[in-house]
Amino acid sequence: MVSLGLEDKVIVVTGGNQGIGAAIVAFLQELEAKVAYTDIKISDSNNGALGIQADVTDLSSMEAAAAEIEEKLGPVYGIVANAGITRDNFFTKLESTDWDAVINVNLKGVANTIKPFLGGMYERSEGSIVGISSISGERGNVGQTNYAATKAGVIGLIKSLAREGARYNVRANAVAPGFIDTEMTKAMPDKVKDKITAEIPMRRFGKPSEIAWAVAFLLSPVASSFITGEVLRVNGAHHT
Ligand SMILES: NC(=O)c1ccc[n+]([C@@H]2O[C@H](COP(=O)([O-])OP(=O)(O)OC[C@H]3O[C@@H](n4cnc5c(N)ncnc54)[C@H](O)[C@@H]3O)[C@@H](O)[C@H]2O)c1
Repeated sequence: MVSLGLEDKVIVVTGGNQGIGAAIVAFLQELEAKVAYTDIKISDSNNGALGIQADVTDLSSMEAAAAEIEEKLGPVYGIVANAGITRDNFFTKLESTDWDAVINVNLKGVANTIKPFLGGMYERSEGSIVGISSISGERGNVGQTNYAATKAGVIGLIKSLAREGARYNVRANAVAPGFIDTEMTKAMPDKVKDKITAEIPMRRFGKPSEIAWAVAFLLSPVASSFITGEVLRVNGAHHT
């Protein structure tokens, strides 16, 4: 019997209440991991995963969440820094509040998520971190200067953490989804969605579960034990 080796591993997913995060939570539960998720909104329906209300922009809120997770579930093995937002507009029209909001959630939020757990992971010489980047971070996107900058930033952060963590056997990788069918993309006008779909060689948006498989692979101490500092693109051949 082959296994990804995630049974009983404690794994934290930020932004796990809906969309890609919720799909990751559900899939990791199927793999018998002990899953906790944080979000600014928590619903009761996440199949028994431990849900904690915490804002990734606030380090003290993430430190309190980390303490609660480790007290209830045990030492954390895996982190999925998934929470993210968009505030799209042409650069000339982008307000500085739109810059700050996106940078605080998508970039500073990733650092705030990882920081409280990293010392323990180094001490235990075990851990895997996955940061959710985006196709926009690698190829840029009209109306997304702020978002693309943060998603490129996630790649730089993750690659640096991979180098720092390697001697402690703590791996760090990014997943760069293409366009995925979630609330985030439902907000796009149909005309724009049709145009994007026509550009995607597989002629469709991805499903959240297709990101969950990639995340589980990178979390696995069996399947990806020598992979660190990588960016795994899941985009239906929608490359740069
Ligand atoms: N949907 C796509 O096409 C796509 C493509 C590439 C990358 N991504 C990235 O994937 C991740 C998930 O996106 P999604 O499509 O599921 O989005 P979504 O909007 O459906 O879900 C995002 C979740 O993050 C939570 N969140 C927002 N701000 C938060 C905060 N300050 N603290 C904690 N949680 C917060 C939300 O409440 C929500 O539950 C994001 O990082 C996004 O940038 C999405």
